[in-house]
Amino acid sequence: MNSTPHIKTEGTSKFQIGEIRNNTVHYDFEKIKTYLNIKGHMLFGKNFRIYKEDEAPLFKLCSYFIQDHHSCAQMGIDTSKGILLSGPVGCGKTSLMQLLLHLAPHKTTYEIIPTRNIVFSFNASGFETLEQYNQTRNYCFDDLGVEPTGSHYAKDCNVMGEILLSRYNLSCHPKDVIQSLSKYGTGSYHTKFRVTTHITTNLNAQELEKRYGNRVRSCIRAMFNLISFDEASVDKRK
Ligand SMILES: Nc1ncnc2c1ncn2[C@@H]1O[C@H](COP(=O)(O)OP(=O)(O)OP(=O)(O)O)[C@@H](O)[C@H]1O
Ligand SMILES: [Mg+2]
Repeated sequence: MNSTPHIKTEGTSKFQIGEIRNNTVHYDFEKIKTYLNIKGHMLFGKNFRIYKEDEAPLFKLCSYFIQDHHSCAQMGIDTSKGILLSGPVGCGKTSLMQLLLHLAPHKTTYEIIPTRNIVFSFNASGFETLEQYNQTRNYCFDDLGVEPTGSHYAKDCNVMGEILLSRYNLSCHPKDVIQSLSKYGTGSYHTKFRVTTHITTNLNAQELEKRYGNRVRSCIRAMFNLISFDEASVDKRK
């Protein structure tokens, strides 16, 4: 176990992003931003910086990923749900989800998978791809809404819609989780595991409903905290 989660080590440098008091890490958002600027440079190049106008969604995301229950409650964020991060093209959604993996990996971690790749995998392998995501790992489905409709041997499938419904069942019906875990020969996981799904998307709630239907939309409401970049947030590819 990492006994100093408030100190991040990058090469020979150390960054203190909070303090330990009474066995609890008290994070400092200003110090977190300094660390994320540096880590962002390392991951994405020297042009990376935290934009002032992105600080509001960033603060919410950081509070969530460090699992600061108090701040999250004040902002209406449920720490037991996932994140649906929306915003205009190129504003930095995927990069932030990659960057924030490094903030508090001892609290929460996830694998980022482009939705397009999931559909390509479905087209090649069929329904076993759906099964692959119907298990208790945490995922961030990147760029929901841009993927094509799945088609395996001329059988069409709304792949991401199906996967989201099954992830909803996993997260909301622990009985199913326990059953699915017992397939893997373990009985104790359900006490430790929470199945979390995150999403990045350019679509808003209405567009998601149009694309996936209202059943999926109601699952989306139950599964995610909606965090949005400002509509005016710049395209950082430009
Ligand atoms: N804060 C930032 N500072 C500088 N460059 C950034 C920043 N965030 C992202 N970028 C760069 O901008 C580009 C777009 O970022 P990213 O892919 O994360 O955006 P996105 O919102 O996920 O886009 P899309 O809507 O197309 O999925 C990338 O080349 C990335 O390296
Ligand atoms: Mg993206």
